[in-house]
Amino acid sequence: MFEEPDGATPLGPDEIHGLKFKHITTRGELDELEQANIQQGLLWLSGRRRGDICDDQFIRNLHRRLFGDVWDWAGTFRQREMNIGIEPPAISVQLRALLGNAKFWAEEKVFPPLEAAARFHHRMVEIHPFPNGNGRHARIAADLYLKDYFDHPRIDWEGGVDLQVNNERRNAYIAALRHADAGEFNAMLVFVGADNQPE
Ligand SMILES: Nc1ncnc2c1ncn2[C@@H]1O[C@H](COP(=O)(O)OP(=O)(O)OP(=O)(O)O)[C@@H](O)[C@H]1O
Ligand SMILES: [Mg+2]
Repeated sequence: MFEEPDGATPLGPDEIHGLKFKHITTRGELDELEQANIQQGLLWLSGRRRGDICDDQFIRNLHRRLFGDVWDWAGTFRQREMNIGIEPPAISVQLRALLGNAKFWAEEKVFPPLEAAARFHHRMVEIHPFPNGNGRHARIAADLYLKDYFDHPRIDWEGGVDLQVNNERRNAYIAALRHADAGEFNAMLVFVGADNQPE
C-alpha cells in the first residue's frame, strides 16, 4: 500500500487494519501523523518522572506514547514474522535478555557509552519487537539509555538529513546494522560517532 524506504519493514494488512485514521491514502500523510505523535511522545518523555528504559514494560509504554495515536497496536509485540526480526514467540524473552545485558554493560562499564548504546540499538531493532516504528523507537530508546545510564549526550542519528527516506546516511545506517547482524560493530561505531572514543 505504501512506498517504503530501503531497510523498512512493509506493513501487512493486519497492521494497516490498526490504523486509527481511515482516510489516509499516502505514505506522506502517514509520516506526518506519526511525526506529530512522536513529538507528543517526546514531550511526555521530557516531563516523565519515572520509568526505566531497561524495563520491558517501559519499552512498550514508550512505543505506545510514540505511536499510539496513529496505530491501535502500538506498544504491543509483533505477532507476525517479517523479513527483519526474530520469531514472534521469542520476542519477550529476548527483549528482557537485552535489557538485562544493557543494565549490566552500564553498571560494569563493559563498553564505552556510545558503544553500549550502539549495541543496545542494534539488538533492539534486530529483535524488532513491534509491527512498525522499531527504528524510530529504538533510536529514542538508545538516546534515553545514554542519558539515564551514562549521563551522555544523545546520538546524532540524523546528521542533518532525514533518516526516514532513502539517502546516503540511511544507506550507511542500514549497512552498519547489517554488519552488526553479522557481529561486526565497527561501522555502527563509526555511524554513532564512537570510533575515536578513548577506551
Ligand atoms: N538488517 C537489519 N538488522 C537490524 N535492523 C535493521 C536491519 N534493517 C533495518 N533495520 C531496522 O529496522 C528499522 C525499520 O523497521 P520499522 O519499519 O519497524 O521502523 P520504523 O521506525 O518505521 O523505520 P524507519 O527507520 O523507516 O523510521 C530500520 O530503521 C532499522 O533500524
Ligand atoms: Mg516503518
